[in-house]
This record gives sequence, C-alpha cells and structure tokens, in this order.
Amino acid sequence: MVQPRILILGAPGAGKGTQSANIVDEFDVDHITTGDALRANKGMDLSDMDTEYDTPGEYMDQGELVPDKVVNAIVDEALSQADGFVLDGYPRNLDQAEELEDMTELDVVLYLDVDEEELVHRLTGRRLDPETGDIYHVEYNPPEDPEVEARLEQREDDTEETVRERLRVYEENTEPVVEYYEEKGTLERIDGNQAPAAVWESVKETISDAA
Ligand code: AP5
Repeated sequence: MVQPRILILGAPGAGKGTQSANIVDEFDVDHITTGDALRANKGMDLSDMDTEYDTPGEYMDQGELVPDKVVNAIVDEALSQADGFVLDGYPRNLDQAEELEDMTELDVVLYLDVDEEELVHRLTGRRLDPETGDIYHVEYNPPEDPEVEARLEQREDDTEETVRERLRVYEENTEPVVEYYEEKGTLERIDGNQAPAAVWESVKETISDAA
C-alpha cells in the first residue's frame, strides 16, 4: 500500500498522540506533531517576527495558540520531507486549514470525538516518560515497571486551569476546522470516549478503508 496521508483532529486530550503512535507502528508513516515540535523549541527567539510574546513557550504555558507564521513554517518543512504521515495538532484554525490545502493532499481526516469532562480528567491525569516519550495515565494506563513510574513527568500545560483555557481556545478556533472538513464531506468521526484499544480498532479500520 502507498503510505497514507492522515490528518487526526480532536480536542486536547482526545487521544491524538496515543492513536498516532499506533498509526505510525501499523502504517509506517511519519508522526508530524506541532505540539512536540514546539515543545522542543519552546525558547526559540521570535523577537524578529513581530509577535506578542518572544518565545513559543510563553504562548504554550498559557494555553494560547502560537502564531500561525511560526507553526505554518514547521509543518511545511516536515511535510516536504514525508511520503506518508499522520499530522497531529495542525490545523488549529481556519487560516491554518487553508494553508494546509496548499501544502499537501489528505487521504483521510479522522476526528476523535470525546466529552469535555472526560478530556479534563484525561489531561490532568496524563504522565509522560521523558526517556521514551510514551504516554501514560495515572488511572487508565499506569506503567507496570516501578522504574518507569518513578521517572514520569507531568506536562506544564496539564494543570486544570491551563487545560480549561486550552479547551476554550479549542472551542473558539478549532471546532470551526472540524466543521470545515465535515462540510467538505471528508471527516471520519470516531467515538473517542471508548477504551484506547476500541478506539484503535475504529481508527485502523477507517484508515484501511480509505487508503
Ligand atoms: P499539543 O501538544 O498539540 O496538545 P493538544 O492538542 O492540547 O493535545 P494533547 O497532546 O494534550 O492531547 P492528545 O489528544 O494528544 O491526547 P493523548 O493521546 O496524550 O499542543 C500544545 C500547545 O502547543 C497548544 O496549546 C499550543 O500552544 C501549541 N500548538 C500546538 N499546535 C499548534 C498549532 N497548530 N497552532 C498554534 N499553536 C499550536 O491522551 C491524553 C491522556 O488520555 C493520556 O494520559 C492518555 O493515556 C489518555 N487516553 C488517551 N486515549 C484514551 C482513551 N481512549 N481512554 C482513556 N484514556 C485515554
């Protein structure tokens, strides 16, 4: 099979990172994630770019969107180097969706649909392994190895206050993107409230049918 070009949409905590890891393993595509790319460049100097804040980290720690011109350049560069991919965290507003039209074509657009209180519970309980990047949850998916458990870290923007702000920003900016793909008739809605393995079955089947 030619490597598929996949877009995964969903609110903060919907499971985009969790399912993207499965997609990479199964379909041998690159994981292009703006969140990870920006976290790796939190201190990037934006002072020449006429932005409100001087670094991406200042936007992220408040749950706000990093300016489009910064993010568009990251995605354009990553897409130019990938054959197949799963794109996670972009587009987050309608301007970014229009930019993406000029960068590439998509084979499938997945939307993980999850209830708001479940999102808050997932994000405040999320923990990350800094050595492997693996994603855990204190209740839903704790690590079995006590050594791994001891080194887990919480993301700085996973406090309840910042999570609520991220969800507000999502509702205002990114829900219109979901409607945009729905109106185009390309959106594949998946019930993301299910357990991770059940979500994965739906995701895998949807990609296999579309690719
Ligand atoms: P980003 O890193 O993209 O964060 P996000 O979209 O808020 O999404 P998350 O990574 O928090 O959630 P996820 O859906 O991947 O969930 P996960 O699989 O980890 O963005 C961070 C910031 O960067 C933004 O606020 C912004 O400032 C900036 N940024 C990024 N992109 C940008 C852009 N395009 N433009 C401008 N700014 C941008 O799962 C969450 C938890 O739930 C985990 O603990 C997991 O174990 C658990 N879980 C997952 N699935 C299930 C399930 N089915 N059942 C139970 N638990 C589950």
